[in-house]
Amino acid sequence: MGEAMKEINEKIYEVARLIVHANRVAVFTGAGVSTESGIPDFRSPGGIWSRFDPEDFTIERFLRSKEVRKKHWQLLLEGGFFDQVEPNPAHLAVANLESLGKLSCVITQNIDSLHQRAGNSPELVLELHGNMRWLNCLSCRGRYSLEEVRAGQREATEAPACEQCGGILKPEVVFFGEALPEHTLKKATELAGIADLFIVIGSSLVVYPAAYLPMYAKEGGAKLVIVNRDETPYDSLADVVISGSAGEIMTRILREVIAISRH
Ligand code: APR
Repeated sequence: MGEAMKEINEKIYEVARLIVHANRVAVFTGAGVSTESGIPDFRSPGGIWSRFDPEDFTIERFLRSKEVRKKHWQLLLEGGFFDQVEPNPAHLAVANLESLGKLSCVITQNIDSLHQRAGNSPELVLELHGNMRWLNCLSCRGRYSLEEVRAGQREATEAPACEQCGGILKPEVVFFGEALPEHTLKKATELAGIADLFIVIGSSLVVYPAAYLPMYAKEGGAKLVIVNRDETPYDSLADVVISGSAGEIMTRILREVIAISRH
């Protein structure tokens, strides 16, 4: 077996041991946990920001321009947020952590609801950047599910409008320039601070305030594990960094946790 393989195996065993001995495990995920479900991430080559201009995704632009709203809707269509995307082994491994009674929360930057679909209890999933399940009318405050909106759409690529008053429908996603949901961020900050193990999966850790959370965890005394394909600014702070596929690595870690727990 090559040196690299041996090193990864040792790291996987180390993380599994940390999980077995931990009481409060907080998992923190980004778009990299969903790429193996077919949803592109943002900053990898070919990612969303290589095809769409992040400037278009500020709340100001969204409110001001019908064209931008159409582009945004097309991103969500193209980003596979509506196709039959399924949770992948990385999501299933995180759901497995909960079923082992180890998980205090899944703090996610993703809006795809795949953690809940993989089996994590909704109350444990803290969606820092909101989700796509609901849309609100900015004029009459009407609230619609995504399914209702899509069913009512004549032209799939047109940005939907409120069927009551024709107002702008905005998904409950946090746009650049908008504040994160206060209660969710507060809860995530609190749980990061008391975690004894903080596992980052599939995030470049460059967008704040979400990216403060691994630091709060370290300051609170947690061990920090990063499972990510590329480097992150937190790698030097982490106790264990495993580079590679989230699906494969997380599946192997959970298999090891179960094996250790049996002895
Ligand atoms: N396995 C492991 N890591 C992966 C995989 C995979 N299959 N696929 C991608 N990655 C890694 C990439 O190496 C990258 O470092 O996941 C990371 C994804 O980083 P980003 O694309 O920056 O996504 P994220 O960190 O979630 O972005 C944060 O930025 O644009 C905003 O609101 C948006 O929530 C998003 C936020």
